[in-house]
Amino acid sequence: MTIIKNLIPKLSFIVVSIFIIVGCSNSEQEESKKVASHPSDIAVLINKEFRLPENYVPNDLVYPDVPFIFNEKIEKRQMRKEPAEALKRMFEAAKSDGIHLAGVSGYRSEAAQTRLYNNYVSKDGVEEADRYSARPGHSEHQTGLSIDVSGITGEFAVEDQFANTEEAKWLDKHAHEYGFIIRFPKGKEDITGYKYKPWHIRYVGKDIATEIHEKGITLEEYYGKYSI
Ligand code: DAL
Ligand code: ZN
Repeated sequence: MTIIKNLIPKLSFIVVSIFIIVGCSNSEQEESKKVASHPSDIAVLINKEFRLPENYVPNDLVYPDVPFIFNEKIEKRQMRKEPAEALKRMFEAAKSDGIHLAGVSGYRSEAAQTRLYNNYVSKDGVEEADRYSARPGHSEHQTGLSIDVSGITGEFAVEDQFANTEEAKWLDKHAHEYGFIIRFPKGKEDITGYKYKPWHIRYVGKDIATEIHEKGITLEEYYGKYSI
C-alpha cells in the first residue's frame, strides 16, 4: 500500500489503480491492476505493471507511408498518426544515409496480442514467453505508438542478429531525433522486464526520446520508478 501511495503522485497523470478483491476457496487474494487512465497520451507507460484499458483501440490509426516487409494492408501495418508521420521522416533520413528500413509489425489489437502470446507460450512455455512477449493488454503495440522494424529485405527481422546490422546501428544513433526510443535496451531486462529488442521502437516525442537517449535510460527510469 505504501508503494502505491508513493507511486500515485508521480504517475497520477497516466495511471489509476484499481483494486480487485478476488474471493478464493482457500483464502482471500488481493490482486492489484494498474490501468493507464490516459492511454492515448503520447508518453503513456505500458509495461508488465501498467496495462491498457480492456480492448483499448487508438482512434487515429493510419497506414504509415513507408515500406513494410509485406504488401497487405492489414492491422499490423497501422500506427497512430503522429508516430506514423515521424516514422516516414525517419525512414527518409535513413535512406539518405544509405539505410533502407522497413516496417515489420506496428499496431496490434488486444485479440491479436492474445493469439500471439498464447502461441509463444505453447512453443516456449510461460517463463520464456514472458521474457520477450507482452501479455494481452500489456503490449506497447496496442498503443499504436510502437513498431518493430528491420532492413528492407526483412533479413533478421525480429531476430537477435538484427542487433549487428547497419540498420540497428543507425536506429540506435538516430531514432531519438524523430521521437523514437529503443524501448528494450541491452542490459536493462531487470528494469523493462524484457530482453534486448533492438528492432522495437516506441514513439514518445522528440523531447522525451532525446532525454532518454542522452541519459542512456529506459522509459521506466524516465518516470523515476526506481527512485521511489
Ligand atoms: N513485444 C513487446 C514486449 C511488446 O509487445 O510491448
Ligand atoms: Zn515489438
